[in-house]
Amino acid sequence: MAKCLVTGGAGFIGSNLTELLLNQGHDVIVLDDLSTGRANNLTAVSEHSNLTIRTGSITDSVLLADVVHGVEVIYHLAAAVGVKLVADDPLRTIETNIYPTEQLLRLAAQGNVKKFFLASTSEVYGKHPGEAWVEDDDLHLGPTSRPRWAYGCSKAIDEFLALAYFQKYGLGVTIGRFFNVVGPRQVGNYGMVVPRFVEAALKGGPITIYDDGSQVRCFGHVNEVVACVNALVEEDSAAGRVFNIGSDQAISILDLAKLIISKVDPKVEIKFVPYREAYGDDFEDVQRRVPNTSRLFETIGKRPTMPLDQILDDIIAWKRQTMGQ
Ligand SMILES: NC(=O)c1ccc[n+]([C@@H]2O[C@H](COP(=O)([O-])OP(=O)(O)OC[C@H]3O[C@@H](n4cnc5c(N)ncnc54)[C@H](O)[C@@H]3O)[C@@H](O)[C@H]2O)c1
Repeated sequence: MAKCLVTGGAGFIGSNLTELLLNQGHDVIVLDDLSTGRANNLTAVSEHSNLTIRTGSITDSVLLADVVHGVEVIYHLAAAVGVKLVADDPLRTIETNIYPTEQLLRLAAQGNVKKFFLASTSEVYGKHPGEAWVEDDDLHLGPTSRPRWAYGCSKAIDEFLALAYFQKYGLGVTIGRFFNVVGPRQVGNYGMVVPRFVEAALKGGPITIYDDGSQVRCFGHVNEVVACVNALVEEDSAAGRVFNIGSDQAISILDLAKLIISKVDPKVEIKFVPYREAYGDDFEDVQRRVPNTSRLFETIGKRPTMPLDQILDDIIAWKRQTMGQ
């Protein structure tokens, strides 16, 4: 059993990963500043004897050095997340996503750390025009005058740094590019589309779609995603490599809204709003985002496959419960 550090462990994906690691018998330290995460995401395990929760920021270098001490596996998930948050505060994105990752890698290489998982994102592909994106494809980031690209660019720099630490110091780094991850505990405040739509539908609508809803996305259930992350970290041949992690079942945002409406309340209406009203004049979006997950499947023998229907049922049931319906 290993001593693990999960940065961002009180977040949506991090809390699910923390539960999985505790169930497997590992010791887990969570470091989280509770900026977009919530303490109650860890309620089910808060009394667990193998769990230590440290509330603080990864930008605090003294704290970071302290929590890394004695750790063997690092799952680095803490980041400024969410299209809205990133568009509103690009400086925070860069400061949170780049310098602390570099420091964490340095501490890991100097210490006893054997494995290091870096949570990256499909946003690094930018406006890639392809049908299904492959890990070694070129990146198509937009101009620096548009702050939304700061997120994908900051994660791309993290990837360069992590791969350099693998190459130079033999640190067992694995990079996971998450595509849209969804499930219970995800909140809609930072622009996440599924919780935003489900919440709007449960409140009687309308559901607000930015632009015309023709954007194409794939949604993977968080339970399957954290199982893949865990399997990658345990697989030695995954070290030094990049993996797409997500579902490859594509759906348009308009069809997603219609599906949610059919499940919650057929009377709910859809409202279309231009991007500019939601995110300002500088905003531009990605039209199609679909991963090729062959490398993931070939390496660990699994990939997220839960049908969207089932995923939405799970989210709606959880949301009804939290809204007291
Ligand atoms: N959810 C997705 O669809 C998705 C897609 C692509 C990439 N990701 C990546 O996955 C990771 C987890 O995302 P999530 O969806 O669980 O979002 P989340 O906001 O729930 O999780 C991020 C966590 O990091 C914490 N955090 C933020 N800044 C911090 C700081 N300075 N110090 C300490 N903790 C800090 C937050 O409080 C939160 O708990 C992120 O790195 C994100 O970039 C997520």
